[in-house]
Order: sequence, then C-alpha cells, then structure tokens
Amino acid sequence: MQRLIPVLNSDHVPLHLISVINTLLTAAKEISHRLHQGSLAGTLGSTLDENIQGETQKKLDIVSNQLIKNMLLETGLVHAVASEEEDDIVMGNPDARYLVAYDPLDGSSNIDINSSVGTIFSILQKPDHPAEGKELFLQTGDEQIAAGYILYGPSTMLVLTTGKGVRAYTLDHTVGEFLLTVDSLTIPHDTQEFAINMSNQRHWSTPMQAYIRDLLSGVDGPRGKNFNMRWNAAMVSDVHRILTRSGLFSYPADSRKPEQPCKLRLLYEANPMSFLVEQAGGRATTGYERIMSLQPTHIHQRCSVIMGSRNEVDACLEYYKSIPCERFDC
Ligand code: AHG
Ligand code: MN
Ligand code: MN
Repeated sequence: MQRLIPVLNSDHVPLHLISVINTLLTAAKEISHRLHQGSLAGTLGSTLDENIQGETQKKLDIVSNQLIKNMLLETGLVHAVASEEEDDIVMGNPDARYLVAYDPLDGSSNIDINSSVGTIFSILQKPDHPAEGKELFLQTGDEQIAAGYILYGPSTMLVLTTGKGVRAYTLDHTVGEFLLTVDSLTIPHDTQEFAINMSNQRHWSTPMQAYIRDLLSGVDGPRGKNFNMRWNAAMVSDVHRILTRSGLFSYPADSRKPEQPCKLRLLYEANPMSFLVEQAGGRATTGYERIMSLQPTHIHQRCSVIMGSRNEVDACLEYYKSIPCERFDC
C-alpha cells in the first residue's frame, strides 16, 4: 500500500506544503492516541472555559488546539494559524507563505460518549495584496490550496484534497503512517439518505421545512421514493458517510437565536468540507449561493450548509428558488 508522501510527490504537491500536511498528521496521531486512551489519559470531560463562540470547551478541544498550533508554528513554514478555539489568529514566521485554518476537534460533544470525532483543516496562502492580521484569512474557499479532515473512528482516516480529486488514507498503527486506501472518492449523484438535526425542524426557514417534509413523505410524496436519515452530530463523520456512499448533509440557518442563525463555521468547517465535496463531484451551497464563493468578512463567520450528492442538493435548491421567504442572515 502506498504511503502518503510518495502519493503527494507524484501529484507534484510542493515540498513545503507536504511538510505542513505531514505536521498536521503528526498532531493527529497524538490526538488519535489520546482519544483511544479515553479515561485512561485523563482527557475526557469539559473545562470551565468558553471559546470565542460561547461554547464550553472540552479538555480535548484545548489539548488538540495546542498540539496543532504549536507543531505548525514550529515548522517555520506557516505564516499564521486561525482556529475555532482561538479568539484571534496566531502569527508564525513572517517570511512563510502558508496559512492554516482549523477545527481541532469537530463533534466534540461525542468525546465523552466514545463516538467519532474529527479534525478539519484548510490551507491557504498569503494573499498577493497587502493584508495584515485577520485580513490574511478573509479569502474565499476557492483560494484554498489543500483541505481535509482526520476522522477518529473505529479506524483513524485522513481524507485529503489538493485540488486533484479526493483520496483517503488509513492510519496503520503498527507503522505509525497513513496508507492510501481509496485512490479516488466520488459521491454518487443520487441518494436516498439525508443528515440533518430534525429537532430544529420548527425553527428552519420555509424552503427547508418543505423539502424535508417531502423527503419524509417517501414513496407517497412528490419525490416518489423513501429516504433514510442518519445524524452523528459530528460533521466529519456525517460528511465521511456521504463521501463514502452518498447523501445530503445540512445544518441550515434557523430562528432559535436571532443573533446567531447559523451553527457551522465558514473557515474551519464549511469551506474545507465544500472543497472535498466538490472535488468528489458533489455540491455545497448555503441555499442561496455556492459556499466556496462566499467572501468572508470575519474569521469566525458562520454559514448555512447544504452539501452532498449533486442531484439531491439541486432538488433541495429548487425549494429555495421557488418558495419566497425571509432570508436568515448569517
Ligand atoms: P464542534 O464540536 O467543532 O463545535 O462542531 C460540532 C458541529 C458539527 O460537527 C455537527 O454537525 C454539529 O455541530 C452538531 O450539532 P447538534 O449538536 O445541533 O446536533
Ligand atoms: Mn466543528
Ligand atoms: Mn471543534
């Protein structure tokens, strides 16, 4: 089985970018080890702190964030990092060109119940125009040069794109390396499976309510087929299922908290996952525009997310086009 670095070399990925990706994987191996140790490593449970998003931080959110941040900055190849768990960006080598945005532990409410979690990353370059501080990261998803996630499940997997399709690698604990296990991940265009947190149904906008109502009416409804539902509460494992066997994933805007209508973060979650999904032949949209075309205005910005099998995402978009409604802004 092929090892990661020769595969990236054969794709002509620049050596310094390979080193940045490899550093993320060194941190991921350490996170994977701590997750496997569970209570034995003393890292389960929450802290008394909240992150900038107002969410209680798990101990492993903090540990994972520190590991990734420190290891990336030590390479000297990273100009700055932005993390879901940091208030502000952290500067690295002023002469380096790479910028890394990341969600150190995605789905962290799953840690204490011994279920799947992940790490998501997005790699950008210093923009050509003069930019300082947070502005460095205010680039569209189309400007990503690499993105991926590490899924800490029954096996630890890396799913990666450098803009030439999507490959999956599995961590072989015996040699401590990620080995290529799927050469080209492609999302089937059609599906009979969707992933959404149904408990928020009454808070969604009218188009999403109408779309899901029609899926639930199955063979007797306008779609004329039955749909199955799955929700892992970790975007990494929900999107991994879709990359593996098709589906539609959504965390739409809702009216629960008017000051914060969207849950998922553009830089750390929506953009890297959209890059993977599009590279695998799927679609990723807010319901109104393509996610990777969005111009971010702040680093912790959130957006509505609908992604997956392209014909199903298109079917969902028809509801947004045909049903007039007040748009929740993120
Ligand atoms: P994080 O743990 O990084 O804050 O992300 C959790 C996100 C995402 O992974 C998942 O799809 C969603 O939150 C789950 O939300 P619910 O708790 O509403 O199901
Ligand atoms: Mn997350
Ligand atoms: Mn997180």
